[in-house]
Amino acid sequence: PALAPCDIVVFGGTGDLTVRKLLPALYQRYRDGQLPEGTRVIACSRAGLDDAGYRDKIRGELPRFVPNAELDQASAEAFIEGLEHVSLDVQDDHSWAGLTAKLPPVAGREHGNDRVRVFYLACAPSLFGPISAGLEGHGLINARSRVVLEKPIGRDLASALAINDAVGAVFDESQIFRIDHYLGKESVQNLLVTRFANAVLEPLWNGRAIDHVQITVAEAIGVGARAGYYDTSGALRDMVQNHLLQLLCLVAMEPPTQVDRDSVRDEKLKVLKALRPITAADAAEVTATGQYATYAEECERPDSTTETFVALKVEIENWRWAGVPFYLRTGKCLDARTSEIVIQFRPVPHPMFPDAEGTTEPNRLVITLQPDEGMQLHLIAKEPGPGGIRLRPVSLDLNYAATFSSRTPEAYERLLMDVVRGNPTLFMRRDEVEAAWAWTEPILAAWEEAGRQPETYPAGTSGPTAATTLIERDGRTWHTRS
Ligand code: BG6
Repeated sequence: PALAPCDIVVFGGTGDLTVRKLLPALYQRYRDGQLPEGTRVIACSRAGLDDAGYRDKIRGELPRFVPNAELDQASAEAFIEGLEHVSLDVQDDHSWAGLTAKLPPVAGREHGNDRVRVFYLACAPSLFGPISAGLEGHGLINARSRVVLEKPIGRDLASALAINDAVGAVFDESQIFRIDHYLGKESVQNLLVTRFANAVLEPLWNGRAIDHVQITVAEAIGVGARAGYYDTSGALRDMVQNHLLQLLCLVAMEPPTQVDRDSVRDEKLKVLKALRPITAADAAEVTATGQYATYAEECERPDSTTETFVALKVEIENWRWAGVPFYLRTGKCLDARTSEIVIQFRPVPHPMFPDAEGTTEPNRLVITLQPDEGMQLHLIAKEPGPGGIRLRPVSLDLNYAATFSSRTPEAYERLLMDVVRGNPTLFMRRDEVEAAWAWTEPILAAWEEAGRQPETYPAGTSGPTAATTLIERDGRTWHTRS
């Protein structure tokens, strides 16, 4: 059936996220004719702009964030001409009149059901509660309303609970879409397919065959204009609590019975609950932090101890993964933008070629998420030659771009369409967010207690030596791209 027309109201309408990600993603879906006919996009912000002023602003910005080849002038202009802007200070009750003038209040939640209303909160999380209350107070919520919450949902468990309570007082959990944009990435969804649409991996996907797992999300960029936010966050809150834990869940979870709104999320939750707590006693050994050399200067806080890099050794206490460490690392200003998941298998049980020359090493399955999606299976082969046996590492290499010619959509395109369709499978359920915080918070507390200082690392390198020590202590090494 055709999708119902939609009113998409974006709070934080002039913000970085809206301009760089949301509007370009909406434009892509609009150009392809996927947005329901008659969809409106109403941006709200405190910038005193009228519709025309906002359109001019976006006219200047859109070409910066949509690749040239994907920007069609006529459709871009039609998209921009459809944008609306409301000047709104959510804390000021009177200023809601601007929004209610554009979006008619409904007589009750069971009314006004013809159009879907999406309230996208791309603003500070401290406003999630007040905005929800404002929407309710001004009669803007109809039976087909959804609210989208951007990260971070809080900065610890207590603040996450408070936000979830405040939004939950107005919206039913089934109406709340908490975004973790990593779940919208093609490569991350493909992880599910790789694991569960292929039979060969599952028998090996456990501690009997796997020695350990590495998850790396390395960024080449620094904090840039986001220093104000980032300095109150750090890599553990900004990346691990959400994106890296989600990747870990997808690697570690049991096969869900189906891909529906609860089956996948139930399985992820079980993984989060099985994570072994990191205590103050073991934090020094299983966590490592770093800060790139120019960071403090960039954020204008010379004594900042915010970590821009973190590495962790994580254990999952269940049958499948007992004794299999998951090493996680993420950081900014590193030597390259690379995200990958490395499944390191155990060595062969008995050396069959003790006299062979060359190298032998255990098999590795490397799933590359960024920048180029792909998968390599590292094996050992015999080098051709008439003499004895000479062993050499080789790899089976799958490159998605070379295999599929279609364009890879941005994560937000997929996720925004899921909101429009009302499918929450790829969004974080309340209990997931809270379980992730419950596990993360003691690490923050342990660092605080120990007065942890991140190790300085030069920009453009692979990060602090403490991360190398963390894994080498176990007789293992970080995977480096060949
Ligand atoms: C965001 C973080 O959630 O993810 C940023 O707040 C980070 O600090 C970004 O740069 C990384 O996303 P991507 O899609 O570029 O890997």
